[in-house]
Amino acid sequence: MSRADERVGLLDLQPTPARILADVVQGLSASPRQLPSKYFYDARGSALFERITRQPEYYLTATELALLDARMDDIAAAVGAGAHVVEYGSGSGRKTERLLEGLDDAVAYTPVEISLSALQHSVARLGALFPAIEMLPVCADFTGAVALPAPSRPPSRTLLFFPGSTLGNFTAPQSVALLRGMRAALGADGRALIGLDLDKDPRRLEAAYNDAAGVTAEFTLNLLARLNREIGSDFDLDGYAHRAVYARERMRIETSLVSLRAQTVRVGGRAFAFAPGEAMAVEISQKYTRDSAAGLAAEAGLALRAWWTDPRGDFALALLAPV
Ligand code: AVJ
Repeated sequence: MSRADERVGLLDLQPTPARILADVVQGLSASPRQLPSKYFYDARGSALFERITRQPEYYLTATELALLDARMDDIAAAVGAGAHVVEYGSGSGRKTERLLEGLDDAVAYTPVEISLSALQHSVARLGALFPAIEMLPVCADFTGAVALPAPSRPPSRTLLFFPGSTLGNFTAPQSVALLRGMRAALGADGRALIGLDLDKDPRRLEAAYNDAAGVTAEFTLNLLARLNREIGSDFDLDGYAHRAVYARERMRIETSLVSLRAQTVRVGGRAFAFAPGEAMAVEISQKYTRDSAAGLAAEAGLALRAWWTDPRGDFALALLAPV
């Protein structure tokens, strides 16, 4: 169902209902059951995620923004003048704005984003703020191979920006595959700047994913609302509860939706019975140490060039370069 957008000549690659249905049926047939976290981000899910980033317990976003500000001179010096900045995902653009502002004479900005509307919004806003930086958006799934456009002014190098600890939503093998894809997109002299949430007191981690205002719970449950609307499933939103637990041995937050009673959900002409207390895994948020991050990077042919953290050691910006 992808279609060309005539005005900007871009493809809309958002997943079709058939694709979502196939993923959901596969996840519900697995044991333990799971649902893909990439489907959190419909319009309401993206708005709820923005609200999460402003909750007092969710320290990640504020910490990363402050870290970017504190280290911008070091980042700019390490990257050098004239970079082509490529970002995987486009988000709200608060971090990108800091980066484009702080780098020395960035020549172009390429957000790689699967949602056409998010992509257009991002280049409209940043294009107006930075008229000297060429906007070269790419509508694509960044987990696949990404062909980057060539800026009209030749860049000194590519800087791939992947903030927010988004890498943490991928399993280790998926993360290595993603990092390998980045390495291929970067070329020999490119750099990647990646935001990573660090291992810490489990109480603080669990609070970040169980905010008192209940926004994260709403965000998780919105996945079921989206599926009901887009693939005609009949999940009862009052029949499931959000649960986020830090699994220390795996160094990750594991978020699930727990069935509050025995119930059956119908999806695509099939019925799936849930036992009371049965959990569906919906998201992982991996936490890192410097060593674990360097290890993942090494598996993808990348080396740590710099490692910046906030004073409390909560969050890191890792600068990676091809080995
Ligand atoms: C999208 C990776 C930044 O895992 O911390 C926030 C998504 N999920 N609260 C994360 C999320 C629940 C978030 N990132």
